[in-house]
Amino acid sequence: MVTMTHPDIAVFDAYGTLFDVHSAVARLADRMGPKAEDISGRWRQKQLEYTWTRSLMRRYADFWQVTGEALDYALAAAGRRDAALRSALLDAYRELDAYPEVPRALAGYRAAGMRVAVFSNATRSMLQTALTAAQLGDLVDVVYSVHELQVFKPDVRVYAAAADAFGVAPSAIAFHSSNAWDVAGAASSNWHALWINRARRPPEYPWITAPVVPDLEQARRHVVGEPPVAGIDDTRRGAD
Ligand code: LAC
Repeated sequence: MVTMTHPDIAVFDAYGTLFDVHSAVARLADRMGPKAEDISGRWRQKQLEYTWTRSLMRRYADFWQVTGEALDYALAAAGRRDAALRSALLDAYRELDAYPEVPRALAGYRAAGMRVAVFSNATRSMLQTALTAAQLGDLVDVVYSVHELQVFKPDVRVYAAAADAFGVAPSAIAFHSSNAWDVAGAASSNWHALWINRARRPPEYPWITAPVVPDLEQARRHVVGEPPVAGIDDTRRGAD
């Protein structure tokens, strides 16, 4: 097993990593119709695409606006222009479900003497609302939003600014993301990045190496040097 040397702070991406972005559509399953999964997938993919394209075009708008614009596209593509449904989905998105292992993993990092931080594209107010709703607020020491720089991940400047805000060297950060491109961004800025591959996707970004773990609790074990639970794949390879 490869053990990281004394990271000071456990940093977490928010959407997809702490929070299940598909739980909004799942909660409204009875109103979604047969294209529910397509809508949820397209909503997320379009949301991410808009963050990348807006950053390249230098046309930043905050993550809440981007999320609404992406939902408009996903609903229209499915032939569902429904204002009440749109509003209900956005309400659900404000208070997404956290993945079940999250509280234990965050508390475990605290018990190991590490600070816990969130680093996200979302605004501070979105993050506070979501953390409070999921009862995670008391487990997080610091929140950093890209909103301060008005550009989204994976622009290298946001990783540098976040490390400054946390007051640590890049090498002192254990970063967790289920978004392969975010893992690649963090690794490119010399953070220790772990890819949380819940969906067991094939590897991508072969030019970076990152431990691949199935959930945050296995990530914590890897980082603090506890033996993995049987079956864990902790080989270092390109992240997805
Ligand atoms: C975030 C996006 C990547 O939370 O989901 O930053």
